[in-house]
Amino acid sequence: MNIVVGVTGGIAAYKAVGVVRSLVLAGHSVRVIATDAALRFVGKPTFEAISRNPVNTDLYEGVSEVRHVAMGQEADLIVVAPATASFMAKLAAGIADDLLGNTILASTAPIVLAPAMHTEMWRNPATVANVALLRSRGIHLVGPESGQLTGKDSGIGRMSEPDAIVDAALAIAGRTRDLAGRRVLITAGGTREPLDPVRFIGNRSSGRQGVALAAAAAARGADVTLVGANLEVDAPAGVTVVHVGSALELSDAVHSSAPSAHLVIMAAAVADFRPETVVESKIKKDSTGDRMTLSLVKNPDILHDLALTRPDGQVIVGFAAETESDRDALLELGRTKIARKGSDYLVLNTVGWTVGFATEGNAVVVLNSAGDIVGEASGSKLSVADRILDLVS
Ligand code: CTP
Repeated sequence: MNIVVGVTGGIAAYKAVGVVRSLVLAGHSVRVIATDAALRFVGKPTFEAISRNPVNTDLYEGVSEVRHVAMGQEADLIVVAPATASFMAKLAAGIADDLLGNTILASTAPIVLAPAMHTEMWRNPATVANVALLRSRGIHLVGPESGQLTGKDSGIGRMSEPDAIVDAALAIAGRTRDLAGRRVLITAGGTREPLDPVRFIGNRSSGRQGVALAAAAAARGADVTLVGANLEVDAPAGVTVVHVGSALELSDAVHSSAPSAHLVIMAAAVADFRPETVVESKIKKDSTGDRMTLSLVKNPDILHDLALTRPDGQVIVGFAAETESDRDALLELGRTKIARKGSDYLVLNTVGWTVGFATEGNAVVVLNSAGDIVGEASGSKLSVADRILDLVS
């Protein structure tokens, strides 16, 4: 592919070198367009050596080849990393006063931005509005992440790591519309089972993998309904979202959409049990003595019930997050589980105190109903989502 990497003026420009390098090593032809501000952080020779191409910055260079239009027209993909708040504001307003702005406006290629800025700037209402506008125009964002920022502070605003940006950008560019006309139901997040008006029994699922699946399916043309249980991330644009809290609410939402779905993906972490009684006012510490016993009753197994009542031709995918780290033992658990659940596929991954939850990456093995491995994927949750869809679509 012909890929344009735009680099704007932020400290994270040093990480853009890694983005360019990964794309070149993956066999793509990469042209870097750096703004003047970007070149105050990283020198032109670095980008020229890594991209193996001359680096363009100036709108008035190469005028005879109409370069300000040609690079955008030739691009199959444009990645801007880092994308500063100021750059996104200009893009939202359609301002093209430099080579990067002109190239983007002259292009119909997918555009992927990797924002990087301080938390306050990311949360500023101007940035929030610009991001919403860019997203509504089909521009993709990767990150920003939470973590250590340039100074001593930390928070949201850190640019995603180069590999995550590259994975997401290539997934976006390589996507086909193979799910056009298909209705896809996806559950995501973790259910919360109320004890009283202020407390619940929950789990650590953030909903990131399910949301990535919804984004990937929508981008491939599917009509997507996302049933989200207490999502910690925003639902993607262009998807019908039903927000739920408990397993019973999730069950109701799923059973009302499932009959018309061609594909159902149960990525949500559903509580197996719920408190037998939900107390109407806050449970007081002194009302129970030194010990408290909760009585729990079983929730319906939604996946199992779906598999029993599915319409002809519907494909059902379950997820299983297990703490087992030994691969053979993990596969054995998966085989037992898919046989019990009756789904067509089971996406297996390992979770633990520090693995699997609220992280940007994932590693999965996919089993079919016979218990055979039909595929494996690792990388960003978006690239894993696309791989899962490749396998089941
Ligand atoms: N699931 C469901 N309804 C439940 C529990 C789980 O539909 N009450 C679905 C999940 O969405 C997931 C799959 O079943 O797709 C496996 O979930 P998991 O929690 O791993 O399975 P369990 O049935 O809880 O089995 P175990 O407790 O033995 O791990």
